[in-house]
Formats: sequence, structure tokens, C-alpha cells
Amino acid sequence: MKLWGGRFRKETDRLVEDFHSSLSFDRRLYRQDIRGSMAHARMLAAVGLISPEEAGEIVRGLEELLADIEAGRASFEVGAEDIHMNIEKLLTEKIGEAGKKLHTARSRNDQVALDLRLYLKDEIREISRLLARLQEVLVDLAEKHLFTLMPGYTHLQKAQPVTLAHHLLAYFEMFERDQGRLEDCLKRLDVCPLGSGALAGTTLPIDRRLVATELGFKDISANSLDAVSDRDFAVEFLAAASLIMMHLSRLGEEIVLWCTEEFGFLELDDAYSTGSSMMPQKKNPDVAELVRGKTGRVYGHLMGLLTVLKGLPLAYNKDLQEDKEAVFDTVDTLKGCLLVMAPLLATARFKEERLGEAARQGFSNATDVAEYLVMKGVPFREAHRIVGSLVLYCLDKGCALNDLSLEELRRYSPAFEEDISDYLTVEACVKRRKVPGGPAPEAVREALARARSILARRE
Ligand code: ARG
Repeated sequence: MKLWGGRFRKETDRLVEDFHSSLSFDRRLYRQDIRGSMAHARMLAAVGLISPEEAGEIVRGLEELLADIEAGRASFEVGAEDIHMNIEKLLTEKIGEAGKKLHTARSRNDQVALDLRLYLKDEIREISRLLARLQEVLVDLAEKHLFTLMPGYTHLQKAQPVTLAHHLLAYFEMFERDQGRLEDCLKRLDVCPLGSGALAGTTLPIDRRLVATELGFKDISANSLDAVSDRDFAVEFLAAASLIMMHLSRLGEEIVLWCTEEFGFLELDDAYSTGSSMMPQKKNPDVAELVRGKTGRVYGHLMGLLTVLKGLPLAYNKDLQEDKEAVFDTVDTLKGCLLVMAPLLATARFKEERLGEAARQGFSNATDVAEYLVMKGVPFREAHRIVGSLVLYCLDKGCALNDLSLEELRRYSPAFEEDISDYLTVEACVKRRKVPGGPAPEAVREALARARSILARRE
């Protein structure tokens, strides 16, 4: 017999039963569901809708049920539709009459909205911790590579020299903005929908604030129709997750590039690389590629849920049940990627010599030479043209700007003097870029200190 079977003359068709059941995926909400039900039962007793004894039986029954589920002893039924009704059914089988009172003044519509909020609150905190762990790895590596030169790129063409520390801390910044988005998401999650009923609240004298406080919510929702149909919080989470994945994917892409023989900037630890079934020599960056690839499914979930929501009239519609797989798969995917990226990076070996060598090639000091001329009073546009011609000259000659004699340089501009030699090494080029936010070790040291203090505050 269905919990809602009173008004029906026929059994549900098996096809429908399988089709609309969410048990296979929403069973993962059992902890949140039980937590919510305990708080609800205590509140029902506090306002006199059930007796303290009944509340006690319900809470104890739910505790036992939790232990049963955790030990794999609970037998759920697809016929009982979803995790909410399965738990209610098992509870009533366990404790009898009192179990039938649990659903007083509650609907699965406000119940599921509550469970998903509780779930996301927990998971977002966990994701934030994993993200902080990855940020910490980046900061540790940056500290180690404060003076490791590398080429900076635009259009994937060598542009100007930077340091590896500076490059890695760029990702720290991306992830820090992601942290901010997660925090922001938590703010709007912090609202308890319970008491909104199916859509229009209840006639019974419940105490919504009591439940909200017990469950650790800052506030209660202000509109019952909105509370049962709102999934903005899930969309916000998926959007924040998409951005984290996008950042992880860009990092993954760089790791893939850097591991090529052509770049040769990085070697992954054997424990974080994989081989080929056919080509014995291969060592592949599969993990970084998978992270890049998995970004697609998270974007898909965001787009999927937005599309589910766009045509829904108020208030609850069963379409909303489609929110959960999107959220769960995103949580799993994101956590999996964060979990593996931290040790992958921490154990990777940056090839400092190769990075420095690459930084020295490709006229990456050309802008610095132009800026030298600016300091000698040459207008920048003129300096740009002069150095451009010098680069052409070098290309013909097959040498670098550093190889030119003062005499050769002066053929292009009389503004060149002895001190130009101080401007030509990439070390000098980087060291001079000490503008705040720049790659000079002096500036990066400040960025590092800032990053460290951000991480310390988070702990
Ligand atoms: N399994 C449902 C969901 O995930 C729970 C709410 C169902 N409510 C209803 N009236 N059918 O959305």
C-alpha cells in the first residue's frame, strides 16, 4: 500500500513505478532526511502536535534507522518512490503508530527542498576545503619557484619572461574567486524551507524558527510558493562548480602542454601518469586530460538544470526531481578532480633549466629594450619601431638581442648606452617588473604573503 494510496482504486503500473522513482539516486540524501525529520519531530512535540514520548520514539527510531542504513541493513523499495517515503515507511514499521505522525504539517515538497539545501551546505564546505588544499599546493610550489624563470605567453607565443611562481599564483587567484563564489552560494543556502508544506504552508500551529535554528539555518524562507519551487541555490552551485572546473581545466590543459617533449617544462610523477597498452614508451598525462574532459559534463548539468527550470509554473512540479542527479554528479566530479589535482601538482617536477632556457628564447626581452629607450627619452611608439627593426636584424643574423654589441645597437638608436647590458638578461627583465601584481620576485613575495594569510584565515 502506498503512503498516498487512499484515493486510488488501482495499483501503479510497474513502468510508472520505475519511471518516477528517484530512490536510485536520492538515497544519498538519507542523512539529511533523517536530520530534518528529527528536528521536525522535536518541533512537533514542542508545539504540542505530538507528545514528547512520541517525539522520543521517532527520534530513537530514526537513530536506529540511520545505523541500519549505514550498516547496509535497511531494505529500501522502489515502490516507495523516494528516500523520503522509504524512511517514513521503515520508521513506521519499526516504531508503529508514532511513525505515522512524523509527516504532520510537512510535505515532501518542503522536505526535499530542505534535504537538498542541507546536503549542499555540507558538500560546499567540503569542496571549499579541497579547493583550499589545492591552493596550498600552489602556494608551496610558488614559494619554491620564486626565482624560476619561465616564458609568459600571449597567443601561445612567447611574450615576456615571468617566474613560475607568478604563473602558479595566477591559479591561486582564480581559485580564490571560486572560494568567494562558494561562500556566496552558502549565504543563500542558509534559509530553511521547512513549514512551507506542499505549497501553501499549513493550518497547524508549527514553529518554523525552532526547526531552522536546530538545523543551523540563519533564517526561514519568506514565501511558501517560492520555497518549494526555488532551485536557484542549486543553479548557483552548478555555476560556481562550472567556474571551478573551467579553472581546473585550464590548469589541466597547461599541464598537458608542459608535459610534451616540445615544451618539456614538467614531468609528472609516475604515480600520477599512465601508460599506453600498445606503445611501450608512452607516459601520458591522462589525469589532467580527464579533468579537462570532465568539465564538459559539469557545464552540461548547469545548462540542464537551467533548462528544467525555465518553463515551470509555480509551485512544485515533478520536473524538480531532475535537480538531484545534476547536483550529485557535479559534487562527485568536482571533488574527484580537486582531490587528484592537489597531489598530482605537489609531486610533479618542474624542469627549471628548461623553463629558464625557454624564457631566454624568442626575444622575450624586446619590450624591456623598448622600455629602456623610453627611460632615455625616446617616445614609446618610436622605441617600439626601433626594437622591432633590431629583432628583424637579429633574425637575419641568427642571434638574440643580448648578442648585439653596443655599436650595432647604436646604429638603430643613439640612445643606447653602456648600461643597456643591465637590461638585456631575462633575470633583469623579470626583476624590474616589480609593479604590484607583477612577476618580480619582490612583488611575488608580497603576493605569496597575501595568499598565505588568506589560507590561514580560512582554516
Ligand atoms: N522525489 C521528489 C523530488 O525529488 C520528492 C517530492 C515529491 N513531491 C511530490 N508531490 N511528488 O522532487
